[in-house]
Amino acid sequence: MKIAVVKESRDGEARVALVPELVAKLTGLGYDVALEPGAGWSAQYADDAYVAAGASVAGDALSGADVVLSVQPLTSQQVRTLRPGTATVSFLPPAQSLETVAERRDLQITSFAMELVPRISRAQSMDALSSQALVAGYRCAIVAASRLRRFFPLNMTAAGTVPPAEVVVLGAGVAGLQAIATSKRLGAVVRAYDVRAAAAEEIRSMGAVAIELDLETLEGAGGYAREMTEDRAARQRDLLTPYIAAADALITTAAVPGRRAPVLVTAGMVGQMKPGSVVVDLAAETGGNVEGAVAGSVVQVGGAQIWERPTCRARCRDRRASCTRRTSSTS
Ligand code: NAI
Repeated sequence: MKIAVVKESRDGEARVALVPELVAKLTGLGYDVALEPGAGWSAQYADDAYVAAGASVAGDALSGADVVLSVQPLTSQQVRTLRPGTATVSFLPPAQSLETVAERRDLQITSFAMELVPRISRAQSMDALSSQALVAGYRCAIVAASRLRRFFPLNMTAAGTVPPAEVVVLGAGVAGLQAIATSKRLGAVVRAYDVRAAAAEEIRSMGAVAIELDLETLEGAGGYAREMTEDRAARQRDLLTPYIAAADALITTAAVPGRRAPVLVTAGMVGQMKPGSVVVDLAAETGGNVEGAVAGSVVQVGGAQIWERPTCRARCRDRRASCTRRTSSTS
């Protein structure tokens, strides 16, 4: 059986679906492993490392493959080169990829979406969603700290004191808790909000202040959140406005499985933030939590800068006249 690994084609994608260490395990089990040239390059793995581990590297690696591994979904063009019965393994959010799913069904390609692996004990080693959420949560705190013009920690010198930055995190699942933990480690004062009641205790256990709003909680099945009604969303935005206006950095990570990300912050709310404030929106792949955010870009809204995690699928949202695209960034 042949397992092929593609070179990722999405701009800014720095991951590879298979590292050399795992090639030896697969070849040891009798599989042939083939990679497209440079597949591991942006993840810092040279072709030679794969060859040394027992893989082959060739431009036609996909040809005759039984299983194709990638991080991002294969393009339609790539899928059309596969023979019926081939399996693909990648992230593949079905709710946003219905056309892709239908195309694969018609071509008789079996596709495994890593984000749909059940989060049960037996499957924990395959929980790619949690591992990537953790990385994203860590990274967004680092991005916020590096883009903010002031320090995250309190700093005291004989000449004066700089108070710590105030960070607000919305959504306290895996990514949000990691963003809280990282912001705390960097010395910021952190406040966080989540619609699930259980999240408040988790927020406090990270050393942050849980923002309590006079609203019903929204627990759904399996420990996930439920979707908000538009009335509740409006009320939540009103109640969160003063917290956001006071924040130096706002990090949003809210998601509802299978739904478009809730809009938690309007452009008007961002406009009330202090000049130089930073907003990092992690919900790009499902539409964004912040109005005016543009996937993969830094936009300026009033005095605040919004950075949104890059994605190939997120659609650019309608932007208010006050939002102007500044720089393109896939860092
Ligand atoms: P997620 O990525 O689906 O959502 C992120 C967070 O956004 C969630 O905490 C959700 O409550 C929150 N959220 C949704 N709508 C919101 C709104 N309108 N305002 C504010 N916050 C909002 O969540 P994630 O990280 O996948 O975690 C969801 C649950 O799954 C958690 O209870 C977590 O503990 C649990 N989990 C279980 C695992 C397991 O192995 N059993 C592994 C990882 C997570």
